[in-house]
Amino acid sequence: TSILVIQGPNLNLLGTREPEIYGKTTLEDIHIKLDSIAKSHSIDLSTFQSNHEGEHIDRIQKAKIDGVDFIIINPGAFTHTSVALRDVLAGVAIPFTEVHLSNIYQREEFRKHSYLSDIATGVICGFGAIGYELALQAAITRLKK
Ligand code: DQA
Repeated sequence: TSILVIQGPNLNLLGTREPEIYGKTTLEDIHIKLDSIAKSHSIDLSTFQSNHEGEHIDRIQKAKIDGVDFIIINPGAFTHTSVALRDVLAGVAIPFTEVHLSNIYQREEFRKHSYLSDIATGVICGFGAIGYELALQAAITRLKK
């Protein structure tokens, strides 16, 4: 069983980027934690971060070829802009959870719309770094069924 975690633009800056909004946990800290949870369930977890939209598209297309079972994605700002990201997720038909550290409904108007939410298995937002762990737990439960 394999799960892919995808991190959108600027999430490589976690820890120093607007910590009052995104927290002080680094992306590496998050990935280490997810990896240990996955290992304890004998799940193969891969992580990917890119600031480039096309690289996201390529990575998700590759996930299909690789037989990835579930995707956990924080699309960052691409959430609110990218039809291409929506199309590839719909195209590969790999179930996915959309995660946001912040509560996007509490912020600027433009963050309230997501191109992905209506085709996601679930959406988790506003819980900070723990949101990824919740998403992973939910994915594991679903995959064990
Ligand atoms: C984010 C919310 C987005 O609106 C923003 O562009 C991000 C991070 C979050 O995790 O809260 O880059 O996805």
